[in-house]
Amino acid sequence: MYESKTAALVLAAGKGTRMHSPRPKVLQEILGEPMLHYVYKALQPLFGQSVRTVVGHGREEVARRFPDQASGFIVQAEQLGTGHALMESFDELERMGCENVFVVNGDTPLMGSAPLEGFLESTTRDMQADVAFMTITLKDPGGFGRVIRTKEGQVRAVVEAKDYDIAEHGPLTGEVNAGLYLLRLAAVKDLLGELTRENNSGEYYITDLVRLGVERGRVVVGYNCGSDPNLMGVNSPKELVQAEFTLRKRIVSRWLDQGVIIHAPESAIIGPEVQLEPGAVLHGPLELYGDSRVAQGAVVQSNTRIENSVIASGALVRAFSHLEEAEVGLDCIVGPYARLRPQAVLRPGARVGNFCEVKKATLGQGAKVNHLTYVGDADVGAGVNLGAGTITCNYDGKNKHRTVIKDGAFIGSNTALVAPVTVGENSLVAAGSVITKDVPDGQLGVARGRQTNMVRRRTRS
Ligand code: UD1
Ligand code: CA
Repeated sequence: MYESKTAALVLAAGKGTRMHSPRPKVLQEILGEPMLHYVYKALQPLFGQSVRTVVGHGREEVARRFPDQASGFIVQAEQLGTGHALMESFDELERMGCENVFVVNGDTPLMGSAPLEGFLESTTRDMQADVAFMTITLKDPGGFGRVIRTKEGQVRAVVEAKDYDIAEHGPLTGEVNAGLYLLRLAAVKDLLGELTRENNSGEYYITDLVRLGVERGRVVVGYNCGSDPNLMGVNSPKELVQAEFTLRKRIVSRWLDQGVIIHAPESAIIGPEVQLEPGAVLHGPLELYGDSRVAQGAVVQSNTRIENSVIASGALVRAFSHLEEAEVGLDCIVGPYARLRPQAVLRPGARVGNFCEVKKATLGQGAKVNHLTYVGDADVGAGVNLGAGTITCNYDGKNKHRTVIKDGAFIGSNTALVAPVTVGENSLVAAGSVITKDVPDGQLGVARGRQTNMVRRRTRS
């Protein structure tokens, strides 16, 4: 833990113009989680509570998404560049009483904790660096800041792509700045005052600290991490999906190694927080996001999207189902084409068939909701059968009301249950009823017009 000596500062105030989206760039998602999620996850084990975030563009939205981090937000009201983001944070960093700050661009989602640890160890302990930064070597340096070294290999400067001039700076080497810096606060304080906006972007560059540090005789280290693609920043839709592609393959491969059976793995999308047990079976293409869990022996068929849901052992989720914040119990069968919305809870052995929607409702053990049915705001008991086309009418235009259907009840097809209403234990509701009054235990409720048959008159033509 670097918490005591070193704080972490995440730069996340930028708009992300190259993403062409109203959403702040750091909230752009990779496998269902915002980029910042990954950054925080990598920093957490190393820095604990000592993480601060520079926010600006869309800061309310960022705070809503990361309420636990919001107390560590530093507002950069006007985004005048990465150097300016550091200037705006300096008071807070000094107030924290730490010696160093580890600055990380919020758009470097795949970095992970391990390489950071090596970098921090070497630069703070072994090299006693004043200014250190991670570099990678790419075939195409793209829009990254280019690292300039002397013939002896000593770093001289980082020159941004927009300002790079081959005549002045020499041929490209492919070594670029990854956007991760270790700075000794006491050593960079005076350098910050020397940053200017005299460059082709008109911004204060944090990267100018490298050149200034060298000029002032500070210990400056460019720490090369080879060609690690995980250290690449994400600026455009193309880079976003490339990062997603890399991470998706890594996650799927890890689960295969751990004994999860994933058919058509090339089309399975599994979020970073999803938990799978060995022996769970998935069929691609499918999407599993958030805190979802799939137990051993559960099967999830193709074209299914599952978010923040739990699938217990022995359960079968058939193709084309959509689950959100739902709980599917032991041996349940769901789908094909089922929709389970938040707080749908299926007790063991319950079934939800095609074109059924369940929301804020519990289905008791072995209950069956098999065809074309809407169950919302309801408690459905064990062994209940809801016939095709049953609708809980839960909304009166103003308020939502609950429907209670007790154990063993049988609801005939095409029935509307107008809530609030209770259907008693082992009672029967006739098909086509509109139930507006409670049905007592063990009784038959019929609520429909009687059929009359009359002579059919035909007109001759
Ligand atoms: C930056 C580096 C570049 C490096 C690259 C690595 C600078 C000047 N350049 O370029 O050398 O190769 O990262 O990915 O730093 N931000 C703020 N406030 C601002 C401006 C930016 O918080 O005023 C944040 C952004 O939200 C982003 C990060 O800083 O998360 C980096 O900014 P970005 O504009 O993406 O810099 P790059 O052009 O990628
Ligand atoms: Ca960037």
